[in-house]
Amino acid sequence: MKTLTNKNIVLGVSGSIAAYKSPDIVRRLQDLGAEVRVVLTAGGAEFVSERSLQAVSKNKVHDNLWDKEAELSMGHIELAKWADAVVIAPASANTIAKLCHGKADDLLTTLILATAAKVLIAPAMNQQMYGSLATQDNLKLLENRSMVIAKPEFGEQACGDIGEGRLAEPTSIALQIAGLFQNTKLAGKNVMITLGATIEAIDPVRFISNHSSGKMGMALASACAEAGATVTLIIGAISVAVESRAKGILVTSASEMLKAVNDNISEQDIFISCAAVADYRPTNIAKNKIKKDRETVSIDLVRNPDILSNICQMKDKPVCIGFAAETENLLENAKNKLKNKGCDAIILNDVSNSKIGLKSDQNEVFFITDKVCEKIEINSKIIIAKKLVIKISETLM
Ligand SMILES: Cc1cc2nc3c(=O)[nH]c(=O)nc-3n(C[C@H](O)[C@H](O)[C@H](O)COP(=O)(O)O)c2cc1C
Repeated sequence: MKTLTNKNIVLGVSGSIAAYKSPDIVRRLQDLGAEVRVVLTAGGAEFVSERSLQAVSKNKVHDNLWDKEAELSMGHIELAKWADAVVIAPASANTIAKLCHGKADDLLTTLILATAAKVLIAPAMNQQMYGSLATQDNLKLLENRSMVIAKPEFGEQACGDIGEGRLAEPTSIALQIAGLFQNTKLAGKNVMITLGATIEAIDPVRFISNHSSGKMGMALASACAEAGATVTLIIGAISVAVESRAKGILVTSASEMLKAVNDNISEQDIFISCAAVADYRPTNIAKNKIKKDRETVSIDLVRNPDILSNICQMKDKPVCIGFAAETENLLENAKNKLKNKGCDAIILNDVSNSKIGLKSDQNEVFFITDKVCEKIEINSKIIIAKKLVIKISETLM
C-alpha cells in the first residue's frame, strides 16, 4: 500500500488553467497521510484562490519570495529543508522552462534550486504547447536531472483542443509521489561500483587506455544512492562529475583497481563491475621516456587480473553484476560471460553502435540472468540506470 504518512510535501501551483484542480491534489495527498504546504506563483493565483488552498491545506499559502514573516526572511530555504518532496502540479510551460535554466525569480523556482528533496513535475497545458520541441526538450532535461515527470493525459482541453496536455488525475499524482518513497530492496545495502577506464603505463608519459567515460557507472551510482544504498565507487579515468552521495576511491591501473576492490569488498552486498578494465598491460614500464630513435617499436603485453572473476570466486561473494561491451554475437557472448565468470547478472550493451554505449549519454541494454533476458530500450543512461536498479532489486535481492 502506498502511503505518505509523516511526509512533508510542498505543492507548487503555477499558471496553468488546471490550477483549479490543485485543492483536490492537496486533499488526495492528505488522504495518503501527507502534511501539505502550498507555494503559489503569480500565474497560479490567476486561476485558483489563495483562500481555497489555505483552507484545504490548513496552512498559510506561500506566494512571496520576499516574505518578512518567514524564518529569517528566508522562506525558500525553510520550505526547501522542510520538504521531503516538492510536486509542481500543475506545472506551466513557463515554470518548466525556468527550472531548466536554473532561474530563481520567484519563491517556487528558488526553492527548487535550494532543495535536496525529490521533485515531481506534472505538466498541464494546451496540446500544441505540450508537444512543442521546446517543452519536450525541457522535460527531457528535467528528467535527466532526476526529476520525475507525471505525464499529462490525452483528452478534451479547456481551450477546446483535443490532445495530450491535460493534468494527470489528482489521485494519480498523489500515488506517484508516494511511489517516490517506496524503497527498493537496495535500501540500506552496500553497493560497490567500478567505473571508467583503466590506464596502463608504457613509460612515464605514455599509456594504453580506452574510450570509457564512466557515465553509465556514475548514473548507476546515482540510481543506487537514490534507492537508499550506501555506494562505494572505484573510479578509473572518467569524464563525468562524481556522485556526491557516494564514497569515491580513485585508481589508475587495473592492478590498482583490483587492490581497491579487494580492500573494500568484505562489507559489500552488491558488486557492479562497470569499469572498462584493460585486458592487457605492458609487461615492463620503461623507466624513462622511450626515445624516437627506432623505426619500429613493439610493446610486450601481459594479461591483467580479471577483477569480476576474482570477486565471483570469493567464498562469501556479494551479488555480482558484470557489464558485457560487445560488438558481435551480442547475446551469445554475454550469456557465455555470465556462465564463465560465475556472476549473477550481465548487463549487455552493443558498443559498435555509436549512438549508445561508450562516451554516449544514451544506452540500450539487455539485463541477463540465468532466468531472464530483458531488453531495456534506448534511453538516457540516467533512466537506464534507474530501470536497472529496479531489475536488480526485483530479480537478485
Ligand atoms: C487564460 C490563460 C490560460 C493559460 N493556461 C495555461 C496552461 O494551461 N498551461 C500553461 O503552461 N500556461 C498557460 N497559460 C500561460 C501562463 O499562465 C503564463 O505563461 C504565465 O506566465 C505562467 O506563470 P508561472 O509559470 O510563473 O506560473 C495561460 C494563460 C492564460 C491567459
